[in-house]
Amino acid sequence: MYFNRRNFLRSASILAACSLGEFDVMAAAMQAKTHGNKVSEDDDAYWNNVRQLFPLTRERIYLNTGTMGASPYPVIEAVREGMMKSDEHGDYGGYENSIEVLAKFTGCSKNEIALTHNVTEGINIACWGLPLKRRDEVIISDQEHVGNALPWLNRQKLHGIILKTFTPAATADETLNRISALITKRTRVIAVPHIPCTQGQVLPVKEICRLAREKGVYSCIDGAHGPGMLQLDLHDMGCDTYASCCHKWMLGPKGTGFLYVRAGFGSVLQPYFVGGGSSGGEWDMVLKPEYMPPYADNAHRYFGGTQSLGLAMGVMAAVDFLNNIGMDNVHRRIKYLGSYLQQRLLALDDKIELLTPTEESSFCGVNSFRIRNVPYSDFYKLCSGEGIRVRGVPENGINCTRVSTHIYNDTQEIDKLMKVVEKAAVSG
Ligand SMILES: Cc1ncc(COP(=O)(O)O)c(C=O)c1O
Repeated sequence: MYFNRRNFLRSASILAACSLGEFDVMAAAMQAKTHGNKVSEDDDAYWNNVRQLFPLTRERIYLNTGTMGASPYPVIEAVREGMMKSDEHGDYGGYENSIEVLAKFTGCSKNEIALTHNVTEGINIACWGLPLKRRDEVIISDQEHVGNALPWLNRQKLHGIILKTFTPAATADETLNRISALITKRTRVIAVPHIPCTQGQVLPVKEICRLAREKGVYSCIDGAHGPGMLQLDLHDMGCDTYASCCHKWMLGPKGTGFLYVRAGFGSVLQPYFVGGGSSGGEWDMVLKPEYMPPYADNAHRYFGGTQSLGLAMGVMAAVDFLNNIGMDNVHRRIKYLGSYLQQRLLALDDKIELLTPTEESSFCGVNSFRIRNVPYSDFYKLCSGEGIRVRGVPENGINCTRVSTHIYNDTQEIDKLMKVVEKAAVSG
């Protein structure tokens, strides 16, 4: 057994009483460590132990990681520890270590990571930094989260760029064809989500980035849902920028994120947001109007100002937590639950319209569906009444229900959701 449940529960009640210092959460987390071994995706005993490491209430069923991931105790404890370090001595610094940790986790170099507070911030830095002029074209999907829609729409409004949209398709090949068909001589950027917030299909980002490169077009990926759900290798993906957060599938503290800017792309991407840190330490204490210090010679030029040691330590603990389980195990468990949900929905035949593709490479932990004749908003209320948190998807009139399944969920929770689906489907 990986985990001493009785000790843990004792400690958990200490946690609940807010005496975090008395609680050796790390010891409990040690017991979920796999030491690089494979854990079966349906090993309920193991995954139940992992579930114990989350304060997430059992009074309701949480199926909305796509909006916000729940953090486990070790992450919460690390945030507290980081704050104590800053607040006991007034020391500043130490947050920089999280840059290297994030780089390793996402398959790039620490020189290619800028710290941000969320996905939106990273997308804005990328969007505003590109040298775009009037009538330059940018390809986005018609299923963007506002975080990847408004920055480009704003440049359309302020700078006259032209947005072209495609609908993500049921297969990776067809999605690629649709993007390809939109490319013209004026196309400058393909700015798509890795996984749209609407229907959750995993887009073929590596192929999209290759297409962009072949056509001399920049690739800017909205990676809100990538890290923590999929194993990432940003170098292999080949994007120019990848904006993400640590507060969804990575299970990190809320208000943490990063922007990947590939090495060499600094000659293209202008830094408009600069300040303490973005000149790479080369700055003149006596600021002279005629002297602008050089930018840091890497992606660190894209962020500046005071950082939080507590949040940075929480991010590092989140990466540790996932690595201790093993990202391969995490990914397989998420995919297993996503697949289980799909199978249960598909068994209801024409009562349900599953919007997320069933193509193996095109789905994972986010699935969206409609129940025939049942408005998604009614179904949302039914779920709330049963203590189940899903997300309604009104974006662009898609009007469906989105279910996210992470490692703290299980098939019993999906079965409970399906009872509500079945009840609604019968009445619909
Ligand atoms: C696909 C997608 N992009 C961007 C965002 C915005 O993320 P953040 O709130 O971290 O800025 C979200 C949030 O749900 C999202 O799902």
